[in-house]
Amino acid sequence: MGARLAVRDVSLQFGGVEVLEDVTFTVEAGQIFGLVGPNGAGKTSLFNCVSGHYRPSAGSITIDDDEVLGSPPATLARHGLARTFQHPALQLRETVLENVLLGAHSRLPGGAVEWSLRLPRTVRSEKALRREALDLLESHGLGWAAKTRADELSHGLHKGVELCRALLMKPRLLLLDEPAAGLPHSEVEQLIETVRRVRDDDITVVIVEHNMGLISALTDRVVVLDHGRKLMEGSAAEAQSDSRVIEAYLGKDAVDDAA
Ligand SMILES: Nc1ncnc2c1ncn2[C@@H]1O[C@H](COP(=O)(O)OP(=O)(O)OP(=O)(O)O)[C@@H](O)[C@H]1O
Ligand SMILES: [Mg+2]
Repeated sequence: MGARLAVRDVSLQFGGVEVLEDVTFTVEAGQIFGLVGPNGAGKTSLFNCVSGHYRPSAGSITIDDDEVLGSPPATLARHGLARTFQHPALQLRETVLENVLLGAHSRLPGGAVEWSLRLPRTVRSEKALRREALDLLESHGLGWAAKTRADELSHGLHKGVELCRALLMKPRLLLLDEPAAGLPHSEVEQLIETVRRVRDDDITVVIVEHNMGLISALTDRVVVLDHGRKLMEGSAAEAQSDSRVIEAYLGKDAVDDAA
């Protein structure tokens, strides 16, 4: 079997501006893969290309060898993809539990017509999904919030709700966009444990993060993007000591000073 995710020569433009240029990398099944780079490097844009929210102008994106470039997000879910967003957009008037259940409908048997008829097997499956959603919230320390409206929760907790929503889709490939942003240090440790557990459940993870401690603790491999281009690929330690990466983050003077 090939890679779980293969991104080949992906380019993306907005109004003539090159946001991604010939980006290529592969993520093997079972890896925790990091995507790092300075602000505006194109990390979220790349996730948007993989999840079908943006359509690249060129290249190829395969999940388990199926070409998915240009497929809409709903189709990507059928390929086992789930993601969280840098800025979570929950349904603020809905409860946390309803938010977690969004998107998991694809797991119910039958189709939209059958769901609207509320056949016994639909009702049974919905009950089982609710139970699973509650268990997920419980195991992420959010069980107490299940019946709370999303707009009553802090922004930091929205990220946890989104993660539960993504996990309820039973993905094989999970994209996490800055899951540690805004979290206090103690919760970053918990997040590291959570992502390890997710990987141990046979979910391949691609993670965008500025927190290099988390990237070092978790990732098998990283790609560094800068100005839409791949700067280097290697271990987190290699990335952190690479002069091109240091220059991208801190400017050329920092590299000259260190020399
Ligand atoms: N929908 C869009 N329309 C126009 N430009 C866009 C759009 N989405 C992204 N861009 C541009 O693409 C570039 C990369 O943005 P992106 O959000 O992908 O960076 P990032 O690496 O995720 O940065 P950060 O670390 O700050 O989240 C930026 O210059 C941004 O303005
Ligand atoms: Mg981003």
